[in-house]
Amino acid sequence: MSSTVKRIGVLTSGGDAPGMNAAIRAVVRSAIYRGIECVGIRRGWNGLIHGDIIKMDAESVNHIISSGGTILYTARSQEFMTEEGQKKAVDTCKLLGLDGIVAIGGDGTFRGAQALSTYGIPVVGVPATIDNDIACTDYTLGYDTASNTAVEAIDKLRDTMQSHERCSVVEVMGRNAGHLAMYVGIAVGATAVLVPEKPLDFEKDVIEKIRTSRLRGKTHYMIVVAEGVSSAMEIAQKIKETISLDPRVTVLGHIQRGGTPSARDRVMATRMGYHAVQVLAEGRQNRLVCTVRGVLQDVDLAEGLSMKKTLSQQQYDVLEAMTGV
Ligand code: F6P
Repeated sequence: MSSTVKRIGVLTSGGDAPGMNAAIRAVVRSAIYRGIECVGIRRGWNGLIHGDIIKMDAESVNHIISSGGTILYTARSQEFMTEEGQKKAVDTCKLLGLDGIVAIGGDGTFRGAQALSTYGIPVVGVPATIDNDIACTDYTLGYDTASNTAVEAIDKLRDTMQSHERCSVVEVMGRNAGHLAMYVGIAVGATAVLVPEKPLDFEKDVIEKIRTSRLRGKTHYMIVVAEGVSSAMEIAQKIKETISLDPRVTVLGHIQRGGTPSARDRVMATRMGYHAVQVLAEGRQNRLVCTVRGVLQDVDLAEGLSMKKTLSQQQYDVLEAMTGV
């Protein structure tokens, strides 16, 4: 397989997500398969600025398909947000003879990719964030594993909440998005799920749900709150002040970002990484790999970033049906 692309770089940036290593492996192996050399850029965009690179060969990615985190490390680079930082990164690309970059991460990573692309460096993004908040793709790497981690933890919490007939308020990650909270909330059969996409009506969305549950005979309650709504502590305090419950608070935090990736994340990471290299090898650039209704494809980076992702009405309807009766 011949290509005018001779050498590419791969990096991970932003919050890590399970499946990033599987994506790195796929990029490296797909590049080698096409006769393209691949270097690893460590510590995200910072690494590109400072030339923090390592050589990658097929063996360097042995066995990482099943490991969480990222062997290339990750960072959120302030320096890369500046013109000076971006120019230094461009210099590194030129010095190393990089014909393209595969950037694995979330929206912050892709804004960096967009900036780099304005200097003529071909970039392809692979979506990886537990938040699943990239609008142009139905799926982002890490979401499945993080959801399952949260579900497992909440199932355990439920056991003790049930024994003590308590109310539990669990804070789930997601930054400004409620995809993770909604998915997890439905999966654990939560009493109420609070997401930032829907303005909070505390009486209706929390107190009424608890009351309905109680009237159905329940004596324990599980409130799932997305971090973008409020802190679990605040919600618990408000519940305590409104009705005679003494909720226990759990913030799942960074546990959701770790762990061995699920089969879905490994396979999606492998397919997306392969696709990203294919795009570069075909001489296309400034694309974002995505999956739309089960079909793996790519969209223009700027166009992909300009879209807005929402929660579907069906998710709200399902949640209402499950919690409002
Ligand atoms: O974007 C992924 C994410 O885990 C968010 O859900 C969360 O708000 C944020 O990163 C936490 O970032 P940090 O690792 O800087 O604490």
